Amino acid sequence: MDIATVSTQPFADQRPGTSGLRKKVTVFQQAHYLENFVQAVFDAIPDRSGKTLVLGGDGRYYNREAIQIIIKMAVANDWGELLIGRQGLFSTPAVSHVIRHYHARGGLILSASHNPAGPEHDFGIKFNGENGGPASESLTEKIWAGSKTISAYRIARVADIDLDHEHDLQIGTTRIRIIDPVRDYADMMEKLFDFSALARLLQGPFRMRFDALHAITGPYAKEVFERRLGAPAGTVQNAVPLPDFGGGHPDPNLVYAKPLADLMFSEQAPDFGAASDGDGDRNMILGHGAFVTPSDSLAVLTAQARCIPAYASGLHGVARSMPTSQAADVVAQTLGIEHFETPTGWKFFGNLLDAGRITFCGEESFGTGSDHVREKDGLWAVLAWLSVLAHSGQSVREILDAHWQRFGRHYYTRHDYEELPSEIAEEMLRGLRAQMPVLPGQLLAGREVQTADDFSYTDPIDGSVSEHQGLRVLFTDGARLIFRLSGTGTAGATLRVYHEAYERDPAQLQRDPQRYLAPLVQLGKELTRLETLSGRKAPTVIT
Ligand code: G1P
Ligand code: ZN
Repeated sequence: MDIATVSTQPFADQRPGTSGLRKKVTVFQQAHYLENFVQAVFDAIPDRSGKTLVLGGDGRYYNREAIQIIIKMAVANDWGELLIGRQGLFSTPAVSHVIRHYHARGGLILSASHNPAGPEHDFGIKFNGENGGPASESLTEKIWAGSKTISAYRIARVADIDLDHEHDLQIGTTRIRIIDPVRDYADMMEKLFDFSALARLLQGPFRMRFDALHAITGPYAKEVFERRLGAPAGTVQNAVPLPDFGGGHPDPNLVYAKPLADLMFSEQAPDFGAASDGDGDRNMILGHGAFVTPSDSLAVLTAQARCIPAYASGLHGVARSMPTSQAADVVAQTLGIEHFETPTGWKFFGNLLDAGRITFCGEESFGTGSDHVREKDGLWAVLAWLSVLAHSGQSVREILDAHWQRFGRHYYTRHDYEELPSEIAEEMLRGLRAQMPVLPGQLLAGREVQTADDFSYTDPIDGSVSEHQGLRVLFTDGARLIFRLSGTGTAGATLRVYHEAYERDPAQLQRDPQRYLAPLVQLGKELTRLETLSGRKAPTVIT
């Protein structure tokens, strides 16, 4: 077999962000760009020879081309076996499961999550390790370092592979298996949840709508909800993954999954609505006239976990990313289990999950999951909610209301200012950081500031320290105001401002979050001199 060593030069912009390397498709299409990064990943895994690599993506534009290139590079770089999803497809949680299930050395996921797809839009790639989770900080640094000094990559000169049928073939010393991307994942769901109880629910008068937003969860949701659980045909909408996601923005929130949100707040609403994102790791949960914030979702599932067979014996602990509301902490304290606060990004949950310290974890950015894989898992969250509904016989609205009555409510909203010039965004945070030493003790927006800091995390398992994870203004009454820059955007800088306030008064539990949090929103704008510096009067996206 002809294996070529191709000379190349480093690209300066291959530092992975919160979740792998994400760039415009046109950037990835430059000669050697993808190849350089893939070689940097392979070089960072010196023990790969003869091992198994899982490969697949969310089906977005450039998925197939990228897979063909990676196959040839994997062959030239001594991988022993490649497990590839049919048509080059895999959801992110399915890759995580397949890595674990087949004891693979790792996997490459081709996705830019919820970012729009198509020739003008985004593509991405990330490596997950043998625990099924995103590469650790140290491995990520190693990959980045490699990308800065690379001088050549290796690639086999062989024909493209047929990705559309399940089959096995051998190229050189590498065995290639094209497998069903859905089956193993659906089997795992069947083990975690009580499928007979869920089938009874979905085959009765109960109605649900799942919107796959023309992205990867379509085939998974069809298999699980319609085929295995017998929900009526049409329960899953927009179920065929399209290379441009139908021109949409597959991010499951009230802004981008608007048709579903409108339906759920209308007279014709079904009992339950849910959506997932481009690569299937995010979720949004809705009831008739009810939206469950992701922070609340984690708290409710933590409180109700015992009604799901896999978690019936109780949870080890629960973790949330720092900007996620403290709702889950309150539940954990009541249950007497450990709770943790980690930096933004799923990779920070990995050590806690591997060490058996936590069972559930979640992020305010519509991510929820458990120790069954090492990624957030959209369909898992939907099945978990269905289990709670089936077990309690209550509606989403009733579950939420009862939760707030018992634990109090954490009003929450995130405001994003997208595509800001990077210097302006940096200047806002610099200005805020400079004020932080004098904030404690001040009365702002009617609340007393307790502390103000730049969040730093020491991993309780391996002791590694991650600094500068977001600026926090913490108030004595539990309210919080948090500022950080996105690490997943591909254009300019995105400022995220997170607002949270805790309410225990039963008479104040049904307020509109935007109105309730308005003083904190105003304060956030003042502290960053947002309007003066950016000219922006309103956020681009509110979740
Ligand atoms: C965003 C979310 C973060 C999530 C990540 C990947 O990252 O905020 O919680 O883990 O996407 O889905 P950010 O753009 O804020 O860095
Ligand atoms: Zn995603």
